[in-house]
Amino acid sequence: MKKIAIFASGSGSNAENIIRYFSDSTEIKVVSVLTNNHNAKVIERAKNLNISYKIFNKSEFNESVEFLNYLIKEVDYIILAGFLWLIPTRIIEKFPQKIINIHPALLPKYGGKGMFGTNVHQAVIDNKEKETGITIHYVNEHYDEGTIIFQKSVKVELNDTSETVAEKVHQLEYEYFPEVIESVILKK
Ligand code: GRF
Repeated sequence: MKKIAIFASGSGSNAENIIRYFSDSTEIKVVSVLTNNHNAKVIERAKNLNISYKIFNKSEFNESVEFLNYLIKEVDYIILAGFLWLIPTRIIEKFPQKIINIHPALLPKYGGKGMFGTNVHQAVIDNKEKETGITIHYVNEHYDEGTIIFQKSVKVELNDTSETVAEKVHQLEYEYFPEVIESVILKK
């Protein structure tokens, strides 16, 4: 059984979707939800789904040996689903090609620090892009720069707003992220 921890900073609708997807799996198990945000809705979701959760602060994340040891001992893969902090080198070194992020645009466009949530979708609208989409990629020391695993695009129409684009992108995320995680872990 391969064990996954999901890192999320906000709503966690992707986290919930991934947890549900693997709930009956005999090969992959979501063992915990980890968040930096006490007010994140993902905490409620984890509670409702009976998944254990941890809230951590910046120094635990960056420096605590206990935190790192927890991951090393309990987790095979780390999934970032709307997680906003840069992953420190000490975690990346212990999880080579084992940390996967989803970005709500077609990288390398619209990536980097500060490019999250509405900022991304508004930039896509402002630049009159004809398409946007999702990028699932391995995580390295730089925001949104690790090797790309999977991309899927969707059309941006003239009457789209950042809200409608976000909605379209979320639908792609729900449809593809769990399957891509599964195929990476099971090397399908
Ligand atoms: C998603 O669009 C994801 O791509 C991005 O943050 C958003 C998180 O949404 N990195 P949710 O918290 O899963 O609802």
